[in-house]
Formats: sequence, structure tokens, C-alpha cells
Amino acid sequence: MTAPKKLFIKTYGCQMNVYDSERMAESLGEQGYVATENAADADMILLNTCHIREKAAEKVYSELGRLKALKAEKPDLKIGVAGCVAQAEGEEIMRRQPAVDLVVGPQSYHRLPDMEARVRSGEKSLNTDFPEEDKFAALESRPKAARAPSAFLTVQEGCDKFCAFCVVPYTRGAESSRPVARILEEARDLVDRGVREITLLGQNVNAYHGMGADGSDKSLAELIWALNDIDGLARIRFTTSHPNDMTDDLIEAHGACDKLMPYLHLPVQSGSDRILKRMNRSHTAESYLQVIDRIRAARPDILMSGDFIVGFPEETEEDFQATLDLIEAVKYGYAYSFKYSTRPGTPAAERAQVDPDVADDRLQRIQALITRQQQEIQRDMVGRNLHVLVEKSGRNPGQMVGKSEYLHAVHIDNSDARVGDIVPVRITEAKRNSLAALRRK
Ligand code: 5AD
Ligand code: SF4
Repeated sequence: MTAPKKLFIKTYGCQMNVYDSERMAESLGEQGYVATENAADADMILLNTCHIREKAAEKVYSELGRLKALKAEKPDLKIGVAGCVAQAEGEEIMRRQPAVDLVVGPQSYHRLPDMEARVRSGEKSLNTDFPEEDKFAALESRPKAARAPSAFLTVQEGCDKFCAFCVVPYTRGAESSRPVARILEEARDLVDRGVREITLLGQNVNAYHGMGADGSDKSLAELIWALNDIDGLARIRFTTSHPNDMTDDLIEAHGACDKLMPYLHLPVQSGSDRILKRMNRSHTAESYLQVIDRIRAARPDILMSGDFIVGFPEETEEDFQATLDLIEAVKYGYAYSFKYSTRPGTPAAERAQVDPDVADDRLQRIQALITRQQQEIQRDMVGRNLHVLVEKSGRNPGQMVGKSEYLHAVHIDNSDARVGDIVPVRITEAKRNSLAALRRK
């Protein structure tokens, strides 16, 4: 028997890429590949890339430079680029880095086995189509290996919102939703393999409108209620959402569905109506705050999370102050802030850019505020009785680590809990990036 070929995948960017990398590993598994953690051992290296900001895209080219040296020592090594940089710059990648054998865009991953066969025979292969057929169609044949207790499940891809800064509608294409039956089937399979928590993924996940059993489109809330009926599945989350798609039924589900966790990532990007308009966000700061009021009325303890861009073209100090004010008003448990990055082909790329030093200064100020809020909310958890889904053992003997309902990392000391258990705990201390807890009886 010949030794199996080894596959090394390096994943950049969002959780949807993590999900896609798992699917690519499974489909190449059928071609006789096993995963390796060590790039130097690999027969095939795939970079699953991110194009959302310039820095993320640049990293790919520097990594490819390093891989070229590896390939010089190991001529049979095949190098592939997947993900959003592949979609946006496929031919340029091939031109700039001749060591690359294969380029595959996110909508064409089901073509990977054929593409692999071609590169094995010495050809180059590039596919950045947006094909009609579903790239997830071949998933039924995936192997049945045990899984970690928390898993991602992509339910929709692409986006029709066209925010003026964002490449997603170009790299991932138009919004498209997977049918409910396919998602339920995949969810049941995950649960059979040990999964207790599923995070539903989509670039604009709350715009989900997949086909139901009766042939009509179902909302994200309807999908969540269907998942709620799966025995053994204990927790449901979803990300990333747009404020305009927080429909009444979804807000209601946050109050009524026990398995839906009290955590919501709802990016607003800016607190200035003038900038929101220039971003083509089609909501105001006030309408965003009203949505949050309604969500909190349904689920008072919900922990809010968000994304912010500072230094968007034409942003003034007053606009930036409005963003800080909005953050003060919401009180975020988690928030991610980014310096605006010019993306070729997007409308904002043509506009007057903010001085980079000013943008740096704003980034530091927004991050200081966000950190303060996050720490306050973590401190407020001390003394509370929560539940932790145990994911792994900790550094100290007897210590286990997992996530609370609110997605905080929690260390449980002297615990006999096992991976996959959901254990009642009392939070005893807020550390820098995690909480400490003792198990309750
Ligand atoms: N520059 C900076 N941040 C961006 N994001 C998206 N596009 C850009 C860009 N051009 C941020 C947004 C989005 C998150 C995933 O990345 O905040 O919500
Ligand atoms: Fe990009 Fe999100 Fe706006 Fe869609 S809604 S264009 S994915 S930032």
C-alpha cells in the first residue's frame, strides 16, 4: 500500500473559511489525503485566504514566497490558493507566484478533487466560477469522524447589501441560502458525532431564506426553531447579522427559544448617520439602537457584540465621537474595530482618505473604550451561576476550559467534567481574557 498523501491547510479570515477548510480537507480525504499540522511534511499545501482588508491579502503573497522556497527543496509539493484572494486575484496570483499550482474560488470547492488530479499530472488549474450547482452537494459522503463539541455550519453565503467599503458581495457573490432539509441533515450528523453547539454561519446570516419542506422560503428564525427540535443539540448561535434583517420572528426567538444563546453579533460600523449613509448601510444610529432595545426587551441579559470601522473616507472627529457615543449607549460585551482599508473595486476606494495618523489615533481610542466595556461586563459575571460547555482540558491538573452562554472562555478548577459536558458553574473571578469558575452541584 502506498503511504497516504499529506495535506496542510492554513486558514485566514472568518469562521466561514474555517468551515470551508474542514470541507476541503474532507473532500481531499477522499483523494487519499490525510491532514498534517506540519507544512514541511505536506504533499499539498492550501492557503484559504481572506480579502477583507489589504493586510490580510498581503499576508498571502508573503506566505507564498516562503512556500516557494519549500517547493524548491521538494519539487513534488503542490501549492494551492483558495478563498477570497483566490476569487479576487486568481490570475494575478498565478502570474506573481509561479510556484502556485492551483487557484480555487470559494464557490468552486466541489471541483477540488478534479483540480487536484490535474495538478498531480503536472498541469496548473484555476477555477473562480460562480457555478449554478451547490458546492455543498457532495457532503453526504463525508467521513464520520468524531467532532469537537462546538461546530460551525454554513447556512447562507454571499451578500446583496453592497456596503461601500466591502469586497464580500464581489468575492462571495450574491446572497444564496441552503435548503432547510440539507442543514437539518448536516446538523443531525454533527450531533451524532458529538457536537452539542452549532453556530450557523453566513456573511449575512439573518437574511437567510432557504427552501423549506413545503417548497416555501423559511426565515432564519424558522430554521432555528427546526434545529431546536434536534435531541442532543444543546446550543444554537448565529453570525454575522445585519441590523436591517433583525426581523420580529428572530427577535422573538431570542426570548422564546431556550437553545438560542444570549449572544448577538450585530455590526453597525459607525455611530454617525452621515458616515452610515456614505457607507450605504441603509440604517441610522437611532434605528440600530431601537433594534437593540427590542432585542433586549425580548432577552434582557443578551450580550451584544459588534464591528466598527474607523477612518472611513471623510470621517471627521465629530463623526468618530458619534461612534464612541453609540458604543457608550450599547455597552458591548465584545467588539471588533478595524482601521478602514481601501479595497479595489469598492465605491469608497475612490473617495478622499483620512490621514493614516488620525485613523491610528482613532483606532487606539476606540479600542481603549471597547476594552474597558468588555472588562466591565466580564467583571459583572463574577458571582453569577452560568453553564459551561466543556471544550478541552486546561493548563493546570484537573482544570477544564469551555464557553459560557455568553461566549466567555471559562476555566473550571478541580473539575471532573469531560469534554462535551455542559456543567453548572459559579463564576469566581474575571481574568484578563477569561473567567474562572467552580463547579456547582
Ligand atoms: N476596511 C476595514 N474593515 C472592513 N470590514 C469590512 N471591510 C472592511 C474594510 N474595507 C470589517 C467590517 C466587517 C468586518 C467583517 O470587517 O467591520 O463587519
Ligand atoms: Fe460586507 Fe457585511 Fe456589508 Fe454585506 S452587510 S457588504 S458582508 S459589511
